[in-house]
Amino acid sequence: MSEHFHVPSLIVKKREGLELAKEEIRSLIEGFTRGDVADAQMSAFAMAVYFRGMTAAETAALTYAMLESGERFAFQGEHPPVVDKHSTGGIGDKVSLILAPLVACCDCWIPMVSGRGLGITGGTLDKLESIPGFRVNLSIDEAMRQLERIQVAMMGQTEQFCPADKKLYALRDVTGTVPSIPLITASIMSKKLAESLDRLVLDVKYGSGAFMKTREQAIVLADAMVAVGREMGVEVSTELNAMNEPLGHAVGNALEVIESLEIMQGRGPKDLLALVLSQAEKITKIPQDQLLTKIQSGAVIEKFKSIVSQQGGDSKQLFALSDIHRAAVIRELRSEAGGTVTAFDAGIVGQSALELGAGRARSSDPVDFAVGFDRLIKTGVCLERGDVIARIHAQSESAANRAEQQLRQALMIS
Ligand code: URA
Repeated sequence: MSEHFHVPSLIVKKREGLELAKEEIRSLIEGFTRGDVADAQMSAFAMAVYFRGMTAAETAALTYAMLESGERFAFQGEHPPVVDKHSTGGIGDKVSLILAPLVACCDCWIPMVSGRGLGITGGTLDKLESIPGFRVNLSIDEAMRQLERIQVAMMGQTEQFCPADKKLYALRDVTGTVPSIPLITASIMSKKLAESLDRLVLDVKYGSGAFMKTREQAIVLADAMVAVGREMGVEVSTELNAMNEPLGHAVGNALEVIESLEIMQGRGPKDLLALVLSQAEKITKIPQDQLLTKIQSGAVIEKFKSIVSQQGGDSKQLFALSDIHRAAVIRELRSEAGGTVTAFDAGIVGQSALELGAGRARSSDPVDFAVGFDRLIKTGVCLERGDVIARIHAQSESAANRAEQQLRQALMIS
């Protein structure tokens, strides 16, 4: 960091609610990436941003500085449109697993860089790693070569990819500074922009199972992300989707892959399919009925098998996941009353899956691929007493008992 920038003064400037200049933000992030700005200073800065917010120009500068902190995809010569999606996270949200191979069947390249589950929301990388042998730690070079071969790569953030975000996220995670709109915007958009995209669709969730609890908060986050994306020349579209009940019928790593395979074979829950089609349409510009035909043709499941085998997995094991990851206790939960399901609280279901071991409270925690729920009932369904409302996959009777209590609390029937 140049001597001109005195880190404590930058922290104080933000703490007092003043606007930082682009160069100040860039120097701060450069210094932090090199290790010259201490974690304690960066944590204080994050807390100042949490309380004071950032202007649109500051948020764009922060995003750009984080993007510049590492390597990025560099596409040369003629190539298809480079596209991706991002979801702010939900319960049972497995759209990426299906959308990536679908879009790769549509003359687009999709270099999908995803995250791990954190808190109650699941992560694409954990789900993919429930496939034996699947390797998510691709280098940018490897991913570029894979794009040329099969038009899609599904990978995690490497040490070289937005390292400033990786370091800052780890600090935010333990300092109560995750839920800040400018920090979330810069974190998400720096990674997506490092993919050098032409088009991006953002699925911004709100509700009990999402970061943003209200639609109004989700709109503010969506607007902030769109502004940054457009400033960087990316065609960004958004969707605001409620996350008040789990998406589809399954929550948990291997269980969500199994459900995604169903959709890729032309079956599976309608709410999940609807999100896949609407988001894929926005980035491929191909109408939904044609996208559906691609799924029904078998091309998408074949593309997914190619991803698995290119990334070290055994695609033959895909259809044996329920045996490979079988929890010790699988319990059917039956309704104690008849009536219409009016709510199945996604926040409670997500918390329960987390406690079963499907998610992680801290980014360094391991996850259990086998546990979670399937056959989750949907709102609007008319039930008779004794109908199945969910199946619990747990590693002990006591864990299943606790999950049973939580699911009954999450379910409203009237
Ligand atoms: N996902 C990210 O990658 N970063 C955030 O800050 C929040 C969600």
